[in-house]
Amino acid sequence: MSASGYDVIGNEALLIAAQQMAEDIDSAFDVFIPVPDDPRRRLYEAMRYATIGGGKRIRPLLIRAAGNLFSLDPQQVIRIGLAVECIHVYSLIHDDLPAMDDDDLRRGKPTAHKAFDEATAILAGDCLHDLAFEILVDEATYPDPFIRCELVRALALASGPQGMAGGQMMDLVAETQEFDLPTITRLQQLKTGAIIGFCVEAAAIMGHVPHEGRTGLHGYARDIGLAFQIADDLMDVRGDAELAGKALGKDAAAGKQTFVSLLGVERAQQQAQLLVEQAKAHLHDYDERADLLRAIADYVIKRDR
Ligand code: IPE
Ligand code: IPE
Ligand code: MG
Ligand code: MG
Ligand code: MG
Repeated sequence: MSASGYDVIGNEALLIAAQQMAEDIDSAFDVFIPVPDDPRRRLYEAMRYATIGGGKRIRPLLIRAAGNLFSLDPQQVIRIGLAVECIHVYSLIHDDLPAMDDDDLRRGKPTAHKAFDEATAILAGDCLHDLAFEILVDEATYPDPFIRCELVRALALASGPQGMAGGQMMDLVAETQEFDLPTITRLQQLKTGAIIGFCVEAAAIMGHVPHEGRTGLHGYARDIGLAFQIADDLMDVRGDAELAGKALGKDAAAGKQTFVSLLGVERAQQQAQLLVEQAKAHLHDYDERADLLRAIADYVIKRDR
């Protein structure tokens, strides 16, 4: 069993790509977050603590997989992956705070506010959010400034109230208010789906794909985004906390409504499987260059962490 857990579906190409991406992202964070020798030291250390050495890096991997369709430059792909991972890790640091999910363990180690303190964790999250955009606007990410602007806009939309943060708000409301299935679907699409959607969108933007040519990719991202969150909710109910590297059983304890609480384990699982098949069907126009995207779709619901 590999540290990343990508071998659950026995797809060698996916495993190799995931391991490579994990290394690339770790080395890039190491370069991008040097620790200064002054009173800000603790902040930088918290940023490094939360970003380096952990996580599946599935979002950067998705960019690489979608990038295969358009032969994108590998270095540019890593930079976009790094920006997305900055937003993702910031969202995790804040998600784990006592004011939100109040979690002590993340990626197999104490959460940022436990290893440091709440104020430092909040600031580390803020700064990772900023770093994401600093990376995107840099020429090294993409030479054409119009493309960089499009990337910034897309990531801002995916992260803010129309995306991840909006979904997190709905998620908190879901602890005390009854939601029906369409509302839970929207919650998950915002909370988790929007950032996943950005990953394939970014590849399409850099690949100069016109809007009308992105339908298949959008459908793919929408379906695996939902399946990914259903898998997370299933893991919360019946996963292995050791493998997951985080506390489980938290959703039910908080009275949080999820796909699983609404549909039950069996139907939630069927729904996730259906979404994965649907996601792959959206790729019918693409040849074997989309195989990594197909493998990621299969992995999304088979994962154990
Ligand atoms: C966890 O994301 C939070 C959700 C959006 C479900 P991941 O499952 O991608 O967490 P890491 O990055 O691998 O730790
Ligand atoms: C968090 O969802 C999604 C984010 C946007 C951070 P969860 O609260 O279900 O994620 P875990 O289970 O803590 O990883
Ligand atoms: Mg949460
Ligand atoms: Mg949480
Ligand atoms: Mg969860």
